[in-house]
Amino acid sequence: MGDLRELARHLRTRSLGRSHEHYATIGSTNDRASQWARDGAPHGAVVTADAQTAGRGRRGRSWISPAAGNLYASVVIRPDPVPREFGAAALAVGVGLREGLAALGVPVQLKWPNDLLVGERKLAGILCECRWVDGTPELVAGFGINVGQDSFDDELRGIATSLVLEGAKVQSRAALLANLLSGLEPCLQAFFDGGFPAIAQRYERHCPMLGQTVQIAGDGDSQRRTVVAERLDADGALVVRDPSTGRSWRVEASDVFVSRSES
Ligand code: BTN
Repeated sequence: MGDLRELARHLRTRSLGRSHEHYATIGSTNDRASQWARDGAPHGAVVTADAQTAGRGRRGRSWISPAAGNLYASVVIRPDPVPREFGAAALAVGVGLREGLAALGVPVQLKWPNDLLVGERKLAGILCECRWVDGTPELVAGFGINVGQDSFDDELRGIATSLVLEGAKVQSRAALLANLLSGLEPCLQAFFDGGFPAIAQRYERHCPMLGQTVQIAGDGDSQRRTVVAERLDADGALVVRDPSTGRSWRVEASDVFVSRSES
């Protein structure tokens, strides 16, 4: 899958990836990018690794990160201007990555809030972490994309996939990352300038769970609830409806499970 150190040769972006650190093995690229951001990394600085020993996912989960030709990357983002719906930044990152993958011909879809799927299998996950400094956000957007991995262990078998398993012809991870950053850069700028409404249609068009019956598990919920995922609100929150009572409410962070039997 080639050497990510060659990223500069493939870049067509203005800012994203123009500063780049690569590690053969690291704890977490998000941790290194956060440290670099604290030390003054410019907007668009990228940290990549071939493997992570302490890769993190959302909601305190770990992100298993073997040296299997995958992409583990984190981008320092300094939004300018800061959009009103800044909390939807991870959705904007999802839109940008999906668009960056489009040329591969793999039908990648979005699952709210920020997973990239092929069919029902997870191809990629996004972890955004933000620190506010004097009222200004310093965001680290980390993403793990299964690229070259051709088998998964018991825990992930059946629920994860990779670009290679989906038949994509990936020239090199450096070229792939350059394409992803090319998708991400204009999408982030549209989001900075116009907030979530500026990219909402690009999200919704590729989010087939909208309108479907799904199950959600919130932070404090021990049980999943069956709801209809009605639409996205103006700030990117998911509006769901309980089909038995007709009551609707907003969900701001949740795990969503697309229920095969009821969808
Ligand atoms: C999720 O789906 O739960 C999000 C997974 C995010 C994983 C990526 S891999 C690169 C970056 N470094 C980390 O420790 N996590 C993110």
